[in-house]
Amino acid sequence: MSDPKKTGGLAGIVAGETTIATVGKEGVGLTYRGYTIEDLAAQATFEEVAYMLIYGELPTQSQLDSYRHTLKCLRGLPAPLKTVLEQLPRDAHPMDVLRTGCSALGTLERETKSHDQLAIANRLLALFPGMLLYWYHFTHSGKRIETAIDAPSIAAHFLQMLHGKPAPELHVRAMDVSLILYAEHEFNASTFTCRTIASTMADFYSAVTGGIGALQGPLHGGANEAAMELIEQFQTPEEAEKALMQMLHEKKLVMGFGHRVYKKADPRSDVIKVWSKKLSEAASDKVIYPVSERLEAVMRREKGMFPNLDFYSASAYRFLGIPTPMFTPLFVIARITGWSAHIFEQRAHNRLIRPTADYVGHATRPFVPIGKR
Ligand code: ACO
Repeated sequence: MSDPKKTGGLAGIVAGETTIATVGKEGVGLTYRGYTIEDLAAQATFEEVAYMLIYGELPTQSQLDSYRHTLKCLRGLPAPLKTVLEQLPRDAHPMDVLRTGCSALGTLERETKSHDQLAIANRLLALFPGMLLYWYHFTHSGKRIETAIDAPSIAAHFLQMLHGKPAPELHVRAMDVSLILYAEHEFNASTFTCRTIASTMADFYSAVTGGIGALQGPLHGGANEAAMELIEQFQTPEEAEKALMQMLHEKKLVMGFGHRVYKKADPRSDVIKVWSKKLSEAASDKVIYPVSERLEAVMRREKGMFPNLDFYSASAYRFLGIPTPMFTPLFVIARITGWSAHIFEQRAHNRLIRPTADYVGHATRPFVPIGKR
């Protein structure tokens, strides 16, 4: 029998080729189509990155202007989708809402030759924020919000629909950077799920719906919510350190730390940490950021572990006034770009994804009829 510690979870297994991203080459580093995440986060907008992931190259200014316009025109929710969203309970998890909304849209705007994979990728990118916030406002205050509003970017659109007014520039840029960081990450669990579903020649919506399901778990996208739940338990760094030491003593998992591929650092964490700090200062926060820094320091000291993207994203989102259950849905809003690129790539060079297993069960044995067992 193979050693599950070594082979479990397909760790270290090369499961295919991609031209979309590199993750953790020599333990660190992340690139999207050859551009480093540091350059993209400092100099690009999320729409440029989305365009590059979906179409393969960075847009020119006129391509970007036209792409922004296209996305703006795709923000309106079809009436039957609004009806579906209105039926979902107030206490549903927003990830379940997006999963259901995506699946429902697949019955309303089916994939066809004239409504092809590119059109669907752009539609989902433009529509996910409205899908989430239409359901949220309707179920929390009975308000049917207009989602086809004239906000300049996806980040601004999300924040404006959430808060009912345009967000400050600092908040919009922080959100924009966060979407860039979450956009793509090679063969992670949700992307691999999308590719596996796409490899059966299922439709685009089925692949994305499956991806949303895989992203929800706390070992993957759900970690940003779990990290916030941890951070906000504490009023002081000292309290946080004491509780964390106890958690480590009990060998508990600390959400927002560690990574399957990165061994020294998650390069996205350094970027989002800077934004979390800026937002903390702007909010005159004296608790959340200092508590987060202490948790990071203790994890480094005690376990030699580093924060992943989810850890400081949690506090950044808190400073943007985003409810915790919307943290993982924001990951969806960004990652639809990477998922789409991978579905295109899988389809372009498709072979059914169907691995084999080491059988470790009973040897072949005679069947015993029910009355004789
Ligand atoms: N807290 C405490 N201990 C940890 C953590 C953690 N966050 N992560 C790993 N460890 C420990 C494990 O318990 C294990 O210890 P052991 O050897 O004594 O059994 C050792 O480190 C190795 O961990 P594995 O579970 O084998 O690492 P794996 O590669 O399977 O898991 C994972 C990676 C799932 C990300 C893990 O680090 C984890 O559960 N982290 C918390 C969840 C999280 O933050 N997920 C977000 C991932 S990034 C993203 O989606 C943006």
